[in-house]
Amino acid sequence: MTKPRKIIIDTDPGQDDAVAILLALASPELDVLGLTCVAGNVPLPLTTRNARVICELAGRPEMKVFAGCERPLTRHLITAEHVHGKSGLDGTNLPDPAMPMEEGHAVDFLIDTLRAQTPGSVTLCALGPLTNLATAFQRAPDIASRVCEVVLMGGAYFEVGNITPAAEFNIHVDPEAAEIVFKSGVPLVVMPLDVTHKALTTRARVEAFRALGTPVGHAVAGWTDFFERFDMAKYGSEGAPLHDPCTVAYLLQPDLFSGRHINVEIETRGEFTAGMTVADWWRVSGRQPNAMFMGDLDAAGFFALLTERIGRL
Ligand code: RIB
Ligand code: CA
Repeated sequence: MTKPRKIIIDTDPGQDDAVAILLALASPELDVLGLTCVAGNVPLPLTTRNARVICELAGRPEMKVFAGCERPLTRHLITAEHVHGKSGLDGTNLPDPAMPMEEGHAVDFLIDTLRAQTPGSVTLCALGPLTNLATAFQRAPDIASRVCEVVLMGGAYFEVGNITPAAEFNIHVDPEAAEIVFKSGVPLVVMPLDVTHKALTTRARVEAFRALGTPVGHAVAGWTDFFERFDMAKYGSEGAPLHDPCTVAYLLQPDLFSGRHINVEIETRGEFTAGMTVADWWRVSGRQPNAMFMGDLDAAGFFALLTERIGRL
């Protein structure tokens, strides 16, 4: 087997973040160097708590978990308790973590790790607002060329916004940070709502998690049961989109996804459009492509991978 791929997961757990982290920790193809937490779905004290709860559930109390930015670069923090519940992990009650946070700031961990590791050997998997990554790129411009690629969940084009009519949550929370990442020159793979809204849970798919009969399977089923109620009420859909696991699934089986390498700009000035990802899907702008913007996935294959790997924990 080839050497495991080194990744750092930047995250704002959230139930879908939790499933993404569990998928990564269950997969020997990936070497998770650490989790860097950011404020997003819920405030930073809860995202750092939740990240450790997830690691302990996965049997990985030794995992390095760092606290990062507690608010966007310039804007006030917007959170999403209406989707994820007050704890950010509503749906399954798990005890407070015993494992400690790492000393030091998440941004310093990102910078130090990218400088220490072989250039091009570390992939950043971003599941929340891009504040930590943008701060690292601003503070240490030399690290951008050392990143293998950034695989991020964020944005939308055909699916339009989920937190405003124009913008997806992760980008809308910190548009200035997203602009820095999208202009960084780092190879980007973007999982927008266009593709994550096709990664829908169904009753059978949730019951398949529960049927694993393990503490992890039950936790994932409980989280998705809770998480899906919001989207089902809003969209009238059969289930909820498992947004963040699309990033890790891409690292494991990229052929599950299809998209286009196009130009994507971030709207930072619009009164009604702040955080909109202006994706040049039809290549009419003449602007340089800067992102692999995904549009479709093999949903059955995605859930088969997810369920099999979750079953290993
Ligand atoms: O818009 C969906 C994204 O916002 C997901 O990453 C979810 O966890 C929230 O952070
Ligand atoms: Ca997230």
